[in-house]
Amino acid sequence: MSKHNDQPARVTVKTLLKRKEDGQKITMLTCYDAAFAGILEKSTLDMILVGDSMGNVVLGMKDTITVTMDQMVHHTAAVARVTSRVMLVADMPFMSYNISLEQSLINATRLIQEGGAHAVKVEGGTAIVPQVRAMVQAGIPVVGHLGLTPQSIHTLGGYKVQGRGDEAQKMIREAKELAEAGVCALVLELVPQGLAKEISAAIKVPTIGIGAGPDTDGQVLVLHDMLGFPSEFSPKFLKRYATLGETIAAAVAQYDLEVKGGSFPSAEHSFQ
Ligand code: KIV
Repeated sequence: MSKHNDQPARVTVKTLLKRKEDGQKITMLTCYDAAFAGILEKSTLDMILVGDSMGNVVLGMKDTITVTMDQMVHHTAAVARVTSRVMLVADMPFMSYNISLEQSLINATRLIQEGGAHAVKVEGGTAIVPQVRAMVQAGIPVVGHLGLTPQSIHTLGGYKVQGRGDEAQKMIREAKELAEAGVCALVLELVPQGLAKEISAAIKVPTIGIGAGPDTDGQVLVLHDMLGFPSEFSPKFLKRYATLGETIAAAVAQYDLEVKGGSFPSAEHSFQ
């Protein structure tokens, strides 16, 4: 609790490190708007990621590549307005941190200053270490992301498990490089369980897995996927904790039926 009021204290980069040291798991979910963020804020969840999965999940795009900086800032700000407890991480979209150090810093600053994020997330290993270092040195907390990195989908050739065979040593090396450059957490996406465990043991920075098994320091899922919004997307690692898609469809069908049948609005919902 904070000293000055009864508001729970904000989850920070220090909280994440302490969790790892104490062997306590970290929880993160994606979120893209104020309506859902208000609910997550009242839970005991530690972190919200305004992920560029927003492209797939709420903007109707076919991948994350067409998500823009302006869209990320707009949605991050919506989540920031209604949160004061969770740690808020915003994805840097495709190519917003690859062209130059200067542009990386300008774009990360926008997500922190205009969006209200507490950290930015970037995908990739050795190639982006200079950008990570520059942002960290400028005082911007950075979350790394290895394994399946959806912004490189055309290079990877599909949404497949990464780090099998010879690739494993490379991923361990890149995780160490990112940790050394100063990332405050590292997302591991679609990585074999054993490799995720090895990486988590090899670095002091907390790892947050999605499709990486139970041995990472925390877990993240895409909110709409775990809530059961209808989607073709049904990977092995996903657990659906609700069937909101079905609940919403049933509510809409009932509303449509009642209005067309004349039973809504009734006297109860009308002013005399
Ligand atoms: O954009 C996103 O939702 C992500 C998570 C899958 C980690 O990067």
